[in-house]
Amino acid sequence: MFMKIFIGADHAGFKLKEDIIKYLKTLKISFDDLGTSSDERVDYPDFAFKVAGAVAKNKNARGILICGTGTGMVIAANKVRGIRAALIYDDYTARMAREHNDANIACLRGRKFPVKKALKILKVWLKTSFSRELRHKQRLEKVSKYEEKFHACLP
Ligand code: RB5
Repeated sequence: MFMKIFIGADHAGFKLKEDIIKYLKTLKISFDDLGTSSDERVDYPDFAFKVAGAVAKNKNARGILICGTGTGMVIAANKVRGIRAALIYDDYTARMAREHNDANIACLRGRKFPVKKALKILKVWLKTSFSRELRHKQRLEKVSKYEEKFHACLP
């Protein structure tokens, strides 16, 4: 089970981040809010790297990142060594991201997406464990071996 959530968003994800924080409080899940703190325009990579760095350094942590589409956050977060960030947009992608990919960061879309749906799929992602099936472990090992070989250093 994970110990802590690090959460971050850009201006387009700010509102959903606030809704998710309220939801995490009702679930009594411990979290650190790494910003942004308003809907003033900012750059998503700054928050992706903060959250991804914190998750990479904390073995039992997980992350949640939100931008307009979720795509920018996925791209940026996956540049950080040890991060497996997944775009989740329905129950199936949320469950598979954990069962098959052991995704340690969930990226969500803040624009044109119902809050209720976002919270529902986030719940699936939070409660689902990695299957630990050999074929999935072997595939993830291939990814981390590649990362170890070509990535420069830890954040
Ligand atoms: C900001 O306008 C938007 O480009 C950003 O939130 C995100 O969707 C990028 O992927």
